[in-house]
Amino acid sequence: MGLLTGKVAIVTGAADGMGQGIARRFLGEGARVVATDVNAAGLAEFADDDRVATVVTDITADDAADTIVATALARFGRLDIVVNAAGVFQLLPLDDLDFAAWSRMWAINLEAPLLLCVAALPALKACGAGRIVNIASVSSSRARSGFGPYTMTKHALAGLTVSLAVEFGRYGITANSINPGTILTGITRPMMADPAWRRDLESQGVLNRVGTVDEIAAAALYLVGPNSGFTTGHALAVDGGFLVKYPERLVASGTDEA
Ligand SMILES: NC(=O)c1ccc[n+]([C@@H]2O[C@H](COP(=O)([O-])OP(=O)(O)OC[C@H]3O[C@@H](n4cnc5c(N)ncnc54)[C@H](O)[C@@H]3O)[C@@H](O)[C@H]2O)c1
Repeated sequence: MGLLTGKVAIVTGAADGMGQGIARRFLGEGARVVATDVNAAGLAEFADDDRVATVVTDITADDAADTIVATALARFGRLDIVVNAAGVFQLLPLDDLDFAAWSRMWAINLEAPLLLCVAALPALKACGAGRIVNIASVSSSRARSGFGPYTMTKHALAGLTVSLAVEFGRYGITANSINPGTILTGITRPMMADPAWRRDLESQGVLNRVGTVDEIAAAALYLVGPNSGFTTGHALAVDGGFLVKYPERLVASGTDEA
């Protein structure tokens, strides 16, 4: 018996990075999974697994949310868990805003999770103990130059998460977010290949490294598993200490790092 035996989960962004790691981890704990992504090739590993239904779709397509939820119900007969892991990042300075890029980021990072949760709510209410996990970011509570539009999407995703928690707790549904620091995935691989960015990202927390997809999958498993039933509206930082680290001082004290 795995921790998720009998449960059915939707995982978006399942073709790469955190979504893929979460889908694998849930399967390892006995769940059946609807793995969805716009990248068909990245879903190939799940193709022959009869515990997985794959849905290849752009998550912003008009019918995406309904199709994904309908697939879960048609194939597995129930739905217990929704993990919104599909997302995009782009540096977009606010003083030279590429409005089309901003709108696209907003649609993927905020509107799509909202619409998927709304489509999933009847089934999550019906199962009596629905679980929603949104992959937000340390950018849900911090800002950085060039990150403005991304930061706005992640602040809004935090707002969506707590709103879901408050509005649907009475149905036994919990909604939490994971706020990752830098994790080595498709989004960060190009930056990690640049030595200057690599140094920057590795020094953000207190552990002097970036995180792994497995560390995020372990957090997601906790939030949807049997040991977190009283945890809702929570933002779980998995960030190597980034959010608790005091900003670098300009003058060293001699007893600490500069
Ligand atoms: N990697 C990090 O350091 C980091 C840190 C904080 C938050 N995040 C967030 O984590 C989430 C997962 O990102 P990741 O790092 O695993 O990146 P990733 O690129 O490895 O995975 C994201 C997945 O989302 C899919 N996707 C993107 N746009 C889509 C669309 N329109 N329709 C369907 N699928 C789409 C991609 O194809 C990809 O498989 C994102 O929301 C990201 O903002 C990442």
